[in-house]
Amino acid sequence: MEGAERIWFDGSLVEYDEMKVHVLTHALHYGSGVFEGIRAYPTDRGAGVFHLTDHLQRLRRSAAQYYMDVPYSLEELAAATHETIAANRLPSCYIRPLVFRGHGEMGVNPLNCPIHVMIAVWTWGAYLGEAALENGIRCMISSWRRIGPNMIPATAKASGQYLNSQLAKMEALKHGFDEAILLNEQGMIADGSGENVFAVQKGRLLTPPISASCLPGITRAAVMEMAAEMGIETIERDLTRAELYFADEVFLTGTAAEVTPVASLDDHHIGTGPITKQIQKTFFDVVHGRHPLSDTYLEFPV
Ligand SMILES: Cc1ncc(COP(=O)(O)O)c(C=O)c1O
Repeated sequence: MEGAERIWFDGSLVEYDEMKVHVLTHALHYGSGVFEGIRAYPTDRGAGVFHLTDHLQRLRRSAAQYYMDVPYSLEELAAATHETIAANRLPSCYIRPLVFRGHGEMGVNPLNCPIHVMIAVWTWGAYLGEAALENGIRCMISSWRRIGPNMIPATAKASGQYLNSQLAKMEALKHGFDEAILLNEQGMIADGSGENVFAVQKGRLLTPPISASCLPGITRAAVMEMAAEMGIETIERDLTRAELYFADEVFLTGTAAEVTPVASLDDHHIGTGPITKQIQKTFFDVVHGRHPLSDTYLEFPV
């Protein structure tokens, strides 16, 4: 991973090349890990971490969902995140905290396996490419359905659930698209493989409710707040695929994807539009510390 020199593992910084975990790690076999994706942006005051507290709270909630006791408090995890960024000298980076079940016992029951925590950082530019941020991406509706709330709760961010996202992503790439959008069990729009979905219709934003089996995205919430500041209303309601085909604009949000326009869906042309561009500009001004809202969203070491 570009720029990664040291990884925080169970309380210490370990050289990147010396990092080892056992092949009988429970999480490797059964997906028993929970994680976050967070970004730090370069500002005049150093690396500003976007909504660090919210991400770490979601990490702890995801862990609680799977009866994992995280052996570090929120404050300790926040300090460890800043320490890892500083140790790698990366004011602009992607941050990946992971809490996982280690090796100790095999079998589906994870409860007797030790809990490990690691935080890695590396340089990661535009997830879907720079051109994607400018011109938008080609998406398809996946033939894979998003995991339902009584299968694997989409509200937690667990390693195993990303097999569902991987199937959708691989299908999209193999069919020549950039990204997949998944429907839920009811056939309504849920999520992208790693992003939340927004449509613009008559000057308002529409986005599926969390109950549609989408991840409660930190970027999603921030974009809704930024839109409100800009006088743009957001309505959370179920959306059909055809509503997206014929929306004025469609965009995806996520820590990795940031605010990415959807140029087409299932080869129906949508194009990029003024509201997506306005939201994207505000988002990048905020995360780079150039906006009055920056202090609300960026967190620095205490
Ligand atoms: C399935 C899915 N939906 C949405 C998101 C966006 O969430 P966030 O904005 O918190 O990164 C992600 C990324 O974590 C994701 O994996």
